[in-house]
This record gives sequence, C-alpha cells and structure tokens, in this order.
Amino acid sequence: MKPPASRGMPRTWFMEVYGCQMNLNDSELIRRILLDGGFEEVADDKLADCILIVTCAVREKAEVRALGRAAQLSGIRKDGSRPIVALCGCVAQEHGEGLLGRVRGIDLVVGPDCYRQLPALLLEGSSRSCTELTSEDYEGLVPVRKAFPRAFVTIMRGCDNFCSYCIVPHVRGRERSRRMGAVLEEVAALSGQGYRDITLLGQNVNSYSSDGASFPELLREASAAARPAWIRFVTSHPRDFSDELISVIPACRNICRQVHLPAQSGNDRILSLMGRGYTRRDYLGRIGALREAVPGVVLSTDLIAGFPGESEEEFGETLSLLTEAGFDYAFLFRYSERLGTAAADLPDRIPVTERLRRLHLLQEAQKRITEDRSAALEGTVVPVLVTGPGAGRGQMAGRTAGNRAVIFRNGAPMPGRFVTASITGTDGWTHFAEVVEVLGPDGSPEASETRAAP
Ligand code: SAH
Ligand code: SF4
Ligand code: F3S
Repeated sequence: MKPPASRGMPRTWFMEVYGCQMNLNDSELIRRILLDGGFEEVADDKLADCILIVTCAVREKAEVRALGRAAQLSGIRKDGSRPIVALCGCVAQEHGEGLLGRVRGIDLVVGPDCYRQLPALLLEGSSRSCTELTSEDYEGLVPVRKAFPRAFVTIMRGCDNFCSYCIVPHVRGRERSRRMGAVLEEVAALSGQGYRDITLLGQNVNSYSSDGASFPELLREASAAARPAWIRFVTSHPRDFSDELISVIPACRNICRQVHLPAQSGNDRILSLMGRGYTRRDYLGRIGALREAVPGVVLSTDLIAGFPGESEEEFGETLSLLTEAGFDYAFLFRYSERLGTAAADLPDRIPVTERLRRLHLLQEAQKRITEDRSAALEGTVVPVLVTGPGAGRGQMAGRTAGNRAVIFRNGAPMPGRFVTASITGTDGWTHFAEVVEVLGPDGSPEASETRAAP
C-alpha cells in the first residue's frame, strides 16, 4: 500500500520502542542517524511524516503488539495524508519483506543491521525492505540519549548461543564485540557529561572479546573510565560467569553490587534441552561464589515456565530454585513458541492454560521473596541516584545501586546527583525514601547497598 500523495519530502519522525535495552540503545543510534540525515523528531505521532516502530520478537505477545501498533499508527489523517511507517528491529528481521504485502500499513521493513540506510529508505518511502545481517557495529555513531542520567552502552551485538527456545540469535545475527577503545571512550565521555549510571550491554557480556581483552578486563577499565558514575552490566550467562569476573565486582567501588543471572529453569533435563550448558548445581554454585565474594549482592534472574515436555516435577524444581536462590527480583515468562527455533519442533507441548498456571505459581512465590527483600531495606540509609520526575505530580524518582526504584517523599535535587536517603516504606520493587544528605556534584558513594540480612 502506497502512502497517499504526501505533503512534500518527509522530514519529521516519531518513534516507539519495544523490547530489551538493546532496542532502546538501537533507537538512540537511529536518532543520531536521522538527525544527521536532516530529519527532526516530534513527540506527537499525528504530526510526523514518518513513524518508526522498533520491535521485539522474543515472545509472540510482543510481536502481535508491534504489528497491531503499526496498523493503528498508519491510519489516514484528517488532511488525507498517511505517514510512512517503518517497522524496525527484531520482528522486521524475523519476517523480512513478507510483511510488506501481509500487514496493513507497513511501508518499510528495516532490520537491526540496516539502520544506516533509514534516511534514504524514508525518502524513498514505499514498499522497501532491508534485512541483511552483517558485521555492523555502528562504530563512529554517538547515540542520542534521552534517559539522563542513566545510559546504556552496547559492548557487543548478536548472540551465538542459540538457546533452543530463543529467537534472538536468528534476528540479531552473529556475536561481535565493539573495540575496547571505542567502548572506553564512550563511557568516559558519558561520565564527563554527567551521566551517573552506566550499563554495559550485550546478550552475553561474558563472551566479550576485543584485541585479546576479555569482559573482566573491559569491566575493570570501564569502571575507571566511568568514575564517579556507577557502572553495571547485563546480561551474564551463568555458564561463562567466571571467578575472575566475580573478583572484579568488589575490587572496584563504583561497580554496582547487582547482577542479573538468568537461570531459565531449575531442572537439569530441561536446562539440557534448552542448550544452556550448566546444571542446577552449577548455577547454585555460581551464585554461592558470587554471594561469598560480594556480600549483599542484589540478584535477579529470568525463568521460563512450561517449556516443551516439562513435567510437574521438573517445573517444581524451577519453583524450588527460585526459593532456594532467593532472588531479589525475577522476570518470569511462560514459554512461547518461536518459529525457526529448535524448541518449536520439540514434542509434548504444554497447554497454554497449564503454562499460565505454572507462571502464576512462580509469580506468587517471587512476590513474597521480593517483598521480604525490599522490606529488609526499610529503616536503612542507602545511596540513591536522582534520575528525574516520578509518575506523580512534583514527585522525584531515583535508583539505588541495587537497581531498586525509589520515590522521594521530600523532594530531591537535580537529576544526576547522588544523595543518601532513608528508606521509609516499600511496595514490591518500589521504595519510598527521604533525602538525608545531598552529595557534591562529583560525590560518588560506594555502589553497594547496606541491608540488614534478610
Ligand atoms: N541474552 C539474555 C536475554 C535474552 S531474552 C540472556 O541470555 O539471558 C530475555 C529473556 O526472555 C530470556 O532470558 C528468557 O527468559 C526469555 N525468553 C526468551 N525466549 C523465550 C521464549 N521463546 N518464551 C519465553 N521466554 C523467552
Ligand atoms: Fe537468547 Fe540464549 Fe542468546 Fe540469551 S544467550 S539471547 S537466551 S540465545
Ligand atoms: Fe531484544 Fe526482543 Fe530483540 S529481547 S534483541 S528486542 S527480540
């Protein structure tokens, strides 16, 4: 479908972003590419010549939502014009040009390695797709960020792990690391601009490798370049979560004592079918070593309920892992078939209602643990980074080193300043706090949370 006669050359764009932080950081690269190409971003979709939807394909629900939004945003406006709609990101890569004829309202299909071509594609405007997977690492482009004082820095793209349930390697291509020098320059520049919470980003940061440097070395150097900012990293694969990496965390005072370590399942047979390369015992061993080296470390995970063939007992082991590990927080999912992945061909699919029931059991158990963990922080005074306005009127929000959301009850200074705050109440992962002391502009509190033992 061609856009009706446009109002001249497309010049303005509006962007919606779904999925993980990788997509968020990609959208910041897209912003740079379009600004350099002479386009202007607008906050109202109805005023935009071009609409970009940066999509996620990791679960069916995310994909359906993205395609629904494309149809919704592509409607004809009062003046008879219609925006150019570019479907970007992982769903674009997954389905490619097949989307053009199949889904109403999509004019362009642009995969994650083709964003440099966006200006030309948008000017062309109709029925084009670009979904080649290459070794693109967007070197030389400075992302235009909008989340001050927090920033994500991509250190690697793609994934070679091919966990059997996961579509990411299929839509993001082969693993490639950015040059260490380029990463360190970006981190130092962000810190110089006042960013105070910097996250190194990759699908499996532990397999980072550049000019002979491994991830622990990069992390150590990045922590020096980031000072006085806090620094964290996501995501770690338990198989590659080495003692060397564990030792770097307590050695550098601005590395947040917070680790996201997806377990996916607590049962060895399912872990093996998933292709994860570790056992339940290995996993518990890794977090044991982490807790010993980094007391009070804030630990989160991802778990999947209802993988093909998962028996009630096997699921029970995931539930017991959740309790035994005592995660501060968990992202819990019901298994979703993704076409083209190895697990989609496995027999013995679990009925969706049963997947939901298991998911619910995980959610209930985690809710209790999260509440207990949060409550243990009540009455303590912890360092908090002020991040910006909260949801309520006049409210200010912040983050702890443990990545907990904080709402200030008595106002707060400018975003980008560290304070110490007394935690006065909690609601799940959200904490209410009162500012005790405002630190100087270069104040950099130790990036650990002091917490009563739960
Ligand atoms: N690279 C990261 C995360 C990638 S996707 C890692 O390895 O941990 C984020 C999470 O989505 C995964 O950890 C997994 O728990 C979940 N996920 C991925 N594919 C899924 C699927 N087909 N169904 C349900 N959850 C899935
Ligand atoms: Fe997906 Fe596994 Fe790669 Fe994570 S490590 S992105 S779960 S294939
Ligand atoms: Fe991220 Fe979703 Fe793509 S999780 S890499 S945006 S499939």
